[in-house]
Amino acid sequence: MPKHETGKHSESDLLHLVDNVNREEDVDYNRRSFLKAMFATGLTMSAATFPFSIHALTGKGKEALPQVKIADVKDVPRGGSVVFNYPDESQPAVLVHLSNGEYKAYNSKCTHLQCSVFWSQEQEKLVCPCHHGFFSVENGQPLAGPPKRELPLIELEIRNDAIYAIGRKVRHHA
Ligand code: FES
Repeated sequence: MPKHETGKHSESDLLHLVDNVNREEDVDYNRRSFLKAMFATGLTMSAATFPFSIHALTGKGKEALPQVKIADVKDVPRGGSVVFNYPDESQPAVLVHLSNGEYKAYNSKCTHLQCSVFWSQEQEKLVCPCHHGFFSVENGQPLAGPPKRELPLIELEIRNDAIYAIGRKVRHHA
């Protein structure tokens, strides 16, 4: 029987569909890359790897992602930071506890050439060491250097004295 008569979608069909659905929005470039990576791994992330429920897909630029514990509140003092990976091991991220008590987290791949951005408490900025890129810790927007796009925001929730990543927002204001 010819392949097209099976009525089933192959993985490449699904990837193509994802591409088409998102083509009109430049903001979705990063999301397509992410979805491709997810499919490419054969959807091997199981419920056992991520014990929490899948977060609903609720809006533009928002991805359906697992809820993952980052750290206990007591382990992240004000001014401090924690590096982690979210939503999978290939995606580095940084959590910062601001001096005003707020928590902020971003994907830490620099939007210029993907070096790892780190938190500088002294400068109160996220810093990319490769080409002196700087990002605001308040909103992830580039402040100086070559980066033109903001860092994807990781949404957080605090419960039971622990900080969880619950979603990611790829924004695009540049
Ligand atoms: S890779 Fe970050 S500034 Fe170039």
